[in-house]
Amino acid sequence: MRKKIAAANWKMNLTWQQGNELVQALLGATPSIQDSHQVILSVPFPYLASVNSMVQSTSGYQVAAQNCHHLAAGAYTGEVSAIMLASLGIPYCLVGHSERREYNGETNAVLAEKLQRCSENSIRPIFCCGEPLTIRDQEQQNEYVARQLQESLFVLSKEQVGHAVVAYEPIWAIGTGRTASSAQAQAMHQHIRKVLADHYGQELAERIPILYGGSVKASNADELFGCPDVDGALVGGASLVASEFTAIVRSLCKS
Ligand code: 13P
Repeated sequence: MRKKIAAANWKMNLTWQQGNELVQALLGATPSIQDSHQVILSVPFPYLASVNSMVQSTSGYQVAAQNCHHLAAGAYTGEVSAIMLASLGIPYCLVGHSERREYNGETNAVLAEKLQRCSENSIRPIFCCGEPLTIRDQEQQNEYVARQLQESLFVLSKEQVGHAVVAYEPIWAIGTGRTASSAQAQAMHQHIRKVLADHYGQELAERIPILYGGSVKASNADELFGCPDVDGALVGGASLVASEFTAIVRSLCKS
């Protein structure tokens, strides 16, 4: 069975003091996570090593980087490679968040390279996809998301994709307070699983966790996690508040 995952994405928020307190509060409030579930904290680069060691002794908790460079190494001042992340023992990395696509011009082709760099270094990618509002208004979201998968994720072999996680984050729902309805989320997740099954086979598609992201909060988590193809959430704003994220983790653990 695929894992159920609650992933936090802190984005560019919190000082180290605030982040440290937040991690301690989370570990204190939800110390034991069953094997079938996982909590992933996607924290800014400078905090990765410390948070990684803070969660080592608590089963069910992992860390993720929020990005990595698409090349292995070289004269790219300020960048961070997948090799560096692997050398710190970082198990996961977000790839293709819509904010990076928009503000850093990351194309499907560049994201395919990032996915390869992650896989070569045994880092599990959390591949983000999702459509803007204009595409949703034209009812073209299924084709749009299928293309993001085809042009980026499908660079991975069957074996590699078995370690990946997909996160569906409709751009119109990110940071807007406007969550996709559970019916909209389920429909897209089912579609994504079918696109994965058509390419990689049904058995593999059934094993890949598909997370929903976009204004997930404690108050809507139960309903989203009740959808058969929603295997968890990628949470932005609500992951910065210990009580909110703890409640989301508890919701996940019940599902
Ligand atoms: P919000 O939960 O703040 O809408 O952000 C979602 C997101 O972008 C997670 O990666």
